Amino acid sequence: MSLHILVTGGAGYIGSHVCVALLEGGYQVTVIDNFSNSHPEALERVAKLGGGAVTLIEADLADEGSIDFIRQQVAERPVHGAIHLAGLKAVGESVAKPALYYHTNINATLNLIEIMGAVGSNTIVFSSSATVYGEGNKNPLTEAAVSYAPTNPYGRTKYYNENILRDLYISNNDWRIANLRYFNPVGAHPSGLIGEDPQGTPNNLFPYIAQVAVGRREKLSVFGGDYPTRDGSGVRDYIHVQDLASGHVAALQFLHNQQEGCTADVNLGTGKGVSVFEAISAFERVSSRAIPFEVTARRPGDLAEVYADVTLARQLFDWEAKYDLEQMCADHWRWQMQNPSGYNG
Ligand SMILES: NC(=O)c1ccc[n+]([C@@H]2O[C@H](COP(=O)([O-])OP(=O)(O)OC[C@H]3O[C@@H](n4cnc5c(N)ncnc54)[C@H](O)[C@@H]3O)[C@@H](O)[C@H]2O)c1
Repeated sequence: MSLHILVTGGAGYIGSHVCVALLEGGYQVTVIDNFSNSHPEALERVAKLGGGAVTLIEADLADEGSIDFIRQQVAERPVHGAIHLAGLKAVGESVAKPALYYHTNINATLNLIEIMGAVGSNTIVFSSSATVYGEGNKNPLTEAAVSYAPTNPYGRTKYYNENILRDLYISNNDWRIANLRYFNPVGAHPSGLIGEDPQGTPNNLFPYIAQVAVGRREKLSVFGGDYPTRDGSGVRDYIHVQDLASGHVAALQFLHNQQEGCTADVNLGTGKGVSVFEAISAFERVSSRAIPFEVTARRPGDLAEVYADVTLARQLFDWEAKYDLEQMCADHWRWQMQNPSGYNG
């Protein structure tokens, strides 16, 4: 019997790649999404790539009034676990609209817990983030970092959700919980059929670079050229979204293989730092396009250098990132070229 996994936010950037990886791994997939930041077309393409159907529950997971409907839908088939990606993710927007972020991101988790409890399933893999780490930690960042102090409401929702899930395990040791702390997801499926489709101005470096390369934007702003790094620009740990997707499947397998309930907080990154200037050069090489840029002031709250210690993921999940920077750029570029206006055209 193939296992059935609920993927909240499964139509989104990371979720769509996770769904393909699950289908390829022989899992059945049900997605809960309200398409607040995604397009139904993504799920059509997921089914094509994964070679299997995806069941959709179109609903707002953060809405108390939707719980009965979602529970009824989920209860129709046994569920062997959830991968919980649904939520809002724009740091700047979270500063402007903190109540919206706390409401959506915390309630979505609480409602999922209630639904999973009601249908008798106890496995949750949660999309956390390296933003849970604060300042003053040494690179590479281990999961036992000395400082946890997210600098914005978005990061705090991740931190609180991790704690909610850990408390759940403390209350009942049957739960199997993995909080996956992603570093910087980039790239797209090598087919170019699914990828990141940001609405409005992209918040992250790679979609911005790609839109400059394709001519949708004039130039890139590099925030800070005077950091104490090898070339003065900020250094981050970029991870190919395909690696991230396989990391979720590995986390799920780990949780299912345990004799008893457990919780684990695990970094998903490559363990390697890449500077903004290095990312620009790699993208220029791969796309054969110039990326005009301008160095501007540092952004408040940005750290000079952040990259992961990935030892724990290797030990627990027998997983490590395989894709290098060139492949991240090549796949991101292919997606951008094939879908210059995202899923809309
Ligand atoms: N992309 C990143 O850089 C990054 C880094 C660290 C963590 N994360 C986390 O990973 C998760 C997925 O990120 P992503 O980049 O794929 O984002 P995304 O916006 O592309 O995907 C999120 C999906 O959740 C859906 N959604 C949002 N609110 C919902 C609700 N109330 N009910 C049902 N569906 C809802 C959206 O429509 C979308 O399909 C998020 O929780 C995000 O915070 C992302």
